[in-house]
Amino acid sequence: MSGHGTTVPMTARRGGALKGEAHVPGDKSISHRSLILGALSVGETRIEGLLEGEDVLDTGKAMQAFGAEVIQHGPGRWSVHGVGVGGFAEPAQVIDCGNSGTGVRLIMGAMATSPITATFTGDASLNGRPMGRVTDPLALFGTQAYGRKGGRLPMTIVGAADPVPVRYTVPVPSAQVKSAVLLAGLNAPGQTVVIEREATRDHSERMLAGFGAKVVVETLPEGRVITLDGQPELVPQDIVVPRDPSSAAFPVCAALLVEGSDVLVPNIGLNPTRAGLFTTLIEMGADLTYENLHEEGGEPVADLRAKFSPNLKGIEVPPERAASMIDEYPVLSVVAAFAEGETVMRGVKELRVKESDRIDAMAKGLRAAGVTVDEGEDWWIVTGRGHGDVPGGVTVESRLDHRIAMSFLVLGLATQKPVTVDDASPIATSFPIFESLMATLGAAITRSNG
Ligand code: S3P
Repeated sequence: MSGHGTTVPMTARRGGALKGEAHVPGDKSISHRSLILGALSVGETRIEGLLEGEDVLDTGKAMQAFGAEVIQHGPGRWSVHGVGVGGFAEPAQVIDCGNSGTGVRLIMGAMATSPITATFTGDASLNGRPMGRVTDPLALFGTQAYGRKGGRLPMTIVGAADPVPVRYTVPVPSAQVKSAVLLAGLNAPGQTVVIEREATRDHSERMLAGFGAKVVVETLPEGRVITLDGQPELVPQDIVVPRDPSSAAFPVCAALLVEGSDVLVPNIGLNPTRAGLFTTLIEMGADLTYENLHEEGGEPVADLRAKFSPNLKGIEVPPERAASMIDEYPVLSVVAAFAEGETVMRGVKELRVKESDRIDAMAKGLRAAGVTVDEGEDWWIVTGRGHGDVPGGVTVESRLDHRIAMSFLVLGLATQKPVTVDDASPIATSFPIFESLMATLGAAITRSNG
């Protein structure tokens, strides 16, 4: 688990062009959901292309602790023998979700309406993140939560023995909160309704329907209204996990910034609730194209081709696009540093409660590297210096945050002087092959000594 292992400092420096194919791992959001929904089905779900990052492996261990059988058959090939909706057993040990907000919040939802008690913990990053956003709606089902001050982990959840269905409007744009309520609604009688004012990633709705639940999604003036019929029998599935657009973002952005680069990132899931970064990069003038666009499992998928783009322009990112690229703002801020003019990012308060405060983490590191960044509670502006003109020559903190670590390593591939990340070990939570994959493209990223 990140935060418990050895610190791994890494340095990125300017080198030759990046060339070749980048086969990024499976989608993290879909991987978590495959394990959890598999555990809530009766019988065997088979999964191909599962992300074998620490976050997802922790969710797999948790599903075992709740009574499911989770088995690895080969690289990315897993099966889950589920116990059915309402079939979770009480875990004998504390559930450690490591670094994963998605893991802990979705699992809390999945157990909240069963008559069992479980205690959750995580690493220093996860134990600092707010859980009230999930335990507040779970309380409406009759679930009790006992955590630390401010609704922090470690936290004990006492599942509702007699859950009632819930109608809940999610107060912040969060797929984790939406999904926790839907998963809790599975074991409540009647209909559970979740309303989101802004659309967030819709993997839970799609996958619940795929596993045989009745889920109706309507777009009404109040927002996206999702109605789930409780107590379905979920039917095990064969799942092929698409490759993660949030991981694809790193080789794509690196290729745009490194002179002479031409990188193909095959088979990337382009669900519109996830693809906002690519639209934004194209608007900034990136030489980024979709090849071989087709559908897989009802989702748009394409090969992304990214080429060196020396004439990027800063833009105002539409705030209504934020949810569809929420995990990509750190690496976008790196691209913005090499663009001409300002890149304005508004409506992004959620970035402050991710694995780290991502606005603060990026702003401090970019400023140290010679880039002007202005910020407020829910906005930030990066003033680009144009291609070739970002000094670098700094050591920055990754703050137990995989995306901060990878973003700064992308930065260092194009700055005048190298950039060192104090600890790149968190990258293993979501993108365990990042180092080797970037090396095959020719990126000059090396382990450095403290
Ligand atoms: C995720 C939802 C998002 C995202 C996270 C994955 C999910 O979090 O940042 O990486 O799989 O539901 P929020 O729900 O906090 O926006």
